Amino acid sequence: MDTQNITKIIEGLEQGEKLTFEAFKMLMTAGGDEKKKLMRAARACADKVYGKDIYIRGLIEFTNYCKNDCFYCGIRKSNSNAERYRLTKEQIMDCCRQGYELGFRTFVLQGGEDAYYTDERVCDMVSEIKRRYPDCAVTLSIGEKKRESYQAFFDAGADRYLLRHETANEEHYGKLHPSELSCADRKRCLWDLKAIGYQTGCGFMVGSPFQTLENIYEDLIFIKEFEPHMVGIGPFIPQKDTPFGNMAAGTLDMTLRLLSIIRLMNPNVLLPATTALGTIDPKGRELGIMSGANVVMPNLSPVNVRDKYALYDNKICTGDEAAECKNCLSLRMESIGYKVVTARGDYKVI
Ligand code: 5AD
Ligand code: FES
Repeated sequence: MDTQNITKIIEGLEQGEKLTFEAFKMLMTAGGDEKKKLMRAARACADKVYGKDIYIRGLIEFTNYCKNDCFYCGIRKSNSNAERYRLTKEQIMDCCRQGYELGFRTFVLQGGEDAYYTDERVCDMVSEIKRRYPDCAVTLSIGEKKRESYQAFFDAGADRYLLRHETANEEHYGKLHPSELSCADRKRCLWDLKAIGYQTGCGFMVGSPFQTLENIYEDLIFIKEFEPHMVGIGPFIPQKDTPFGNMAAGTLDMTLRLLSIIRLMNPNVLLPATTALGTIDPKGRELGIMSGANVVMPNLSPVNVRDKYALYDNKICTGDEAAECKNCLSLRMESIGYKVVTARGDYKVI
């Protein structure tokens, strides 16, 4: 494989040409200098849209109760070793207050699918945050709901919604989830969210069990078709109390290549360097930014519950140092020539 080929493929992506499966495979395997070229092109593309600004989202993990049983996830309902917690509205408002003072202008409320948090309670929480902080965006990440529920949250003031599609391939979806869950339902939720008017995020795990390159290619095609405002990807990391506890983790290399490809295919997309990426490599998030990501999502949850939101093992930012995530990330971003900004950080079209 020669350098010229890779250069051509990158230029093709920059011009909005369709990525063939063959070209995709080359980008996923190209070595040394060619890999660097891919990352540099993706970073240049992000710079063109977002400059040196890195957006921060204050992540509040407000409940780890979940009615689902996804095979990969540490807070699946069958994990009796998971110590369950749920934040009260007051605790959540307290996180927002602290976050606002630190300069956060987006709050991401993430949780398992927890029946305690009825539509009414979610709406109440969203409208209270919007009332107190009208200049902030509220993002929800609470799973699959009926369209009417999504509409109610939106009417209460929610601006954005994150729902990773996990895999765009129905058969692969079936290997990661119990039979009650389906890829079609998941996609239906995503289309509903978009139709309602949310800035919507999908995404998948890199290196999830049974995932093939063909599957990932389908993810990329789905993303292109769906045109999300945000794409969340991070490596799969095993959690010891799940059926996938002994499976191999996704790699840094693959995740970085995919961040770059996603950036080039979707120049305006909001693309986080995720906590999972920071977990598999101490410099994972910095490398993610250098590969085309433009968002980081420091944890704003109360320190005493952080280790309980354990989707996977060895998650970073769960110790005492974790109160300092904002500062930590600001310094990390400065170390590579980027700057965390106080802004809502909406999707940009240029
Ligand atoms: N490793 C990495 N990511 C995971 N997620 C859930 N479990 C794991 C795991 N073991 C991701 C899923 C989910 C998001 C909130 O976290 O993609 O959508
Ligand atoms: Fe959480 Fe560095 S970002 S401690």
